[in-house]
Amino acid sequence: MLPVLKSVLTAALLLATPVMAETVKVEATLKADKAGPVINRNIYGQFVEHLGRGVYEGIWVGKDSPIPNTRGIRNDVVAALKHIKVPVVRWPGGCFADDYHWRDGVGPERKPTINSNWNRQIEPNSFGTHEFMDFLSQIDAQPFVSVNVGSGSVKDAQSWMQYMTAEPTTPPGAERARNGQQTPWSVPYVGIGNETWGCGGQMRADDYAYEFRKYAAYVKSSSGKRPFLIAVGPDTDDYAWTETLMKEAAWWRPAATPMMYNIDRPIMDGLSLHFYTLPSNTWQNKGVATQFGEDQWISTMKRALFMDELITKNSAIMDKYDPQKKVALIVDEWGTWYDGGPGGLYQENTLRDALVAAVTLNIFHDHAERVKMANIAQMINVLQAMILTDKDKMILTPTYHVFEMYKVHQDATRIPVNYTAPVYRYGEAEVPMISVSASRDKAGKIHVSVANLDPNRAIALDLILTGVKAKTVTGRTLTAPATDSHNTFTAPNTVTPKPATGVKLKGDTLTANLPAKSVSVFELQ
Ligand code: AHR
Repeated sequence: MLPVLKSVLTAALLLATPVMAETVKVEATLKADKAGPVINRNIYGQFVEHLGRGVYEGIWVGKDSPIPNTRGIRNDVVAALKHIKVPVVRWPGGCFADDYHWRDGVGPERKPTINSNWNRQIEPNSFGTHEFMDFLSQIDAQPFVSVNVGSGSVKDAQSWMQYMTAEPTTPPGAERARNGQQTPWSVPYVGIGNETWGCGGQMRADDYAYEFRKYAAYVKSSSGKRPFLIAVGPDTDDYAWTETLMKEAAWWRPAATPMMYNIDRPIMDGLSLHFYTLPSNTWQNKGVATQFGEDQWISTMKRALFMDELITKNSAIMDKYDPQKKVALIVDEWGTWYDGGPGGLYQENTLRDALVAAVTLNIFHDHAERVKMANIAQMINVLQAMILTDKDKMILTPTYHVFEMYKVHQDATRIPVNYTAPVYRYGEAEVPMISVSASRDKAGKIHVSVANLDPNRAIALDLILTGVKAKTVTGRTLTAPATDSHNTFTAPNTVTPKPATGVKLKGDTLTANLPAKSVSVFELQ
């Protein structure tokens, strides 16, 4: 063959051959005979605030809307949320909670107010307590209500609790019944304020510890039962706040009469933690939601993984005052937060967000002894949302798909997986390339969730199964062509889970291909 022709053919062949991504081998061992704690289903909780289009349009369209709805609540959103088994929803804020006066949102006369935290948006108050509870009954979730500490009072919080929980034969219950709800609602989770170190009152830790104790003495359901009370915890790594709250507010004072209080139960059932993943780690210039480079991909992963250190260090402080782990750590605001967007904290949600969700949920599983609830910010149209809407249209985000794939872990028992993660590096930054978590559900099925954080290299996983004889394995994988691939109203299925490829059982080993930048969940029976 003529040398020129040979080199042309070689070049053509090279162009036609797809470039094979480098594959890294990882060996891990699943120890199915070693059971850990139960992964509380509430770790899959959501957060909804009156902000942007989170409530209005996202949930509430009104009874007369042409958008199909049930009593004003949009049907498409309800069906999508039911499918991911949302266990609990935190409402009405966020910063909005400490500016919310519940009476504005009940009864036939709803006067608009001004949302002073979020662009002085007009708050129509058409979505109030009754509508929130109706929404929860439609999606089959439980309420986590945040009462107003910043601009409210103990009396307001007490009367709201009575309004929600009293029998209709009592004055507060009769008022609720006149407004359309005969049967008392159950209010299992109550947050005492929100970010009282910031928008919720600019308090010092010891001021808030005092406020918390006071509210805790009066915030009860009308039967006298105390709900699970959640105190405002630290902003990110403010460990001094955690220390003060645990020292000053977790337990009843020694002088409290045992006749009145169960002193074995802490006053504080949960301490919250707020942590947002900003690619750049600065609030002034957070980083963009799409069209980012690999530098922002890895910095986002690194920041998301910081959740592990935050929980570890906060738990160590909590252990000092509560070695029996009676006080839960409740991560009631977490997720990505980017610059810009058309207002109201609306942001695109890409494959990168899916990876953040997967590694964060795996971290919560790792800390299931202490972390009993988490609420991603926020459910619809705000920050790291499950769902985006554009008037009558709705799309599911990559984050939604992770919550859908991971729902199998809800209330399952964690099983240890041992592995050494290879390193993924870009520039100066490095993170573990893989994150793995496993659990056994009540029917005995084992689920293994795995994230490959490297956007360039695939993983050939060998998962050695000990303590179990599995007969079948199936799996699904979420990945997409680009790190910023996302679903749009015209292309809603760009990032959706597909059957996993190359997954099989070889004796006692599960082998699987984990594509670069992917999330997979495998089921073993
Ligand atoms: O989720 C948006 C805001 O972030 C919340 O209102 C506030 O609690 C936090 O700072």
